[in-house]
Amino acid sequence: MSTHRKKNFKKVTTNSLQEMKRLGEKISMLTAYDFTLAKIIDESGIDVILVGDSASNVMAGHETTLPITLDQMIYHASSVIRAVDRSLVVVDLPFGSYQGNSKEALSSAIRIMKESGGHAVKLEGGEEIIESIRRILTAGIPVMGHLGLTPQSIYKFGTYTVRAREEEEAEKLREDAKLLEEAGCFAIVLEKVPAKLAEEVAQSLTIPVIGIGAGAGVDGQVLVLHDMLGLNQEFSPRFLRRYLNLFEDIQGAVQTYVRDVKNKDFPNDQESY
Ligand code: KIV
Repeated sequence: MSTHRKKNFKKVTTNSLQEMKRLGEKISMLTAYDFTLAKIIDESGIDVILVGDSASNVMAGHETTLPITLDQMIYHASSVIRAVDRSLVVVDLPFGSYQGNSKEALSSAIRIMKESGGHAVKLEGGEEIIESIRRILTAGIPVMGHLGLTPQSIYKFGTYTVRAREEEEAEKLREDAKLLEEAGCFAIVLEKVPAKLAEEVAQSLTIPVIGIGAGAGVDGQVLVLHDMLGLNQEFSPRFLRRYLNLFEDIQGAVQTYVRDVKNKDFPNDQESY
């Protein structure tokens, strides 16, 4: 049953996320890329929906997030926005749409906001992209940061292993997080970093830190929807909790349908005109 349709619900805003941090209420965030699943998770009470560039992997089957384009992100985001009543919808700026210069970053963010109706954008990186973040913020567009494992830089890292285990990288992460807060980001995603470091960063900031593979000491959690629903069997990192095994459930349903068609069991008289 819908958790919010029957009540007077309040829309989630960037301010409400900051209030949740202040009150010690954890923030829930999941990805979505299409109307149907976005409607289900919005009506289930999720706080933030991320139209992640993980759509490149999950929806298009690419090995990395790099190939997805701004037009494709706008298509996914506008499908999600049509479904959502309550959640805050954050849209990833894809690789190549903001790193070049801050003017290009601003025009990419404006396209996302105008053409999809998204509520905020997310960019990967710290000091290297701070000018782009500042410029987007000047247009009144809320920005979520993303530090730690930043998948758009996978060819620099070479692997998807835990980041900032060494002190030098941990120190840069602390500084970048401060910089993002000072620039005016409303929240930061921290991906795949040691739990102790993530907790320290969350405690040092007034804006919420939302973790994925960053332990329990942060202000909220995000997962890729298709991973937590078990639609995807290949991806099993330690941080992933699977709540369903939909790959097997769907496979079972399809196998039964195929059998029913082959056996001439479907459709029966009640299913015919
Ligand atoms: O694109 C994405 O799904 C993300 C999450 C992993 C945070 O950035």
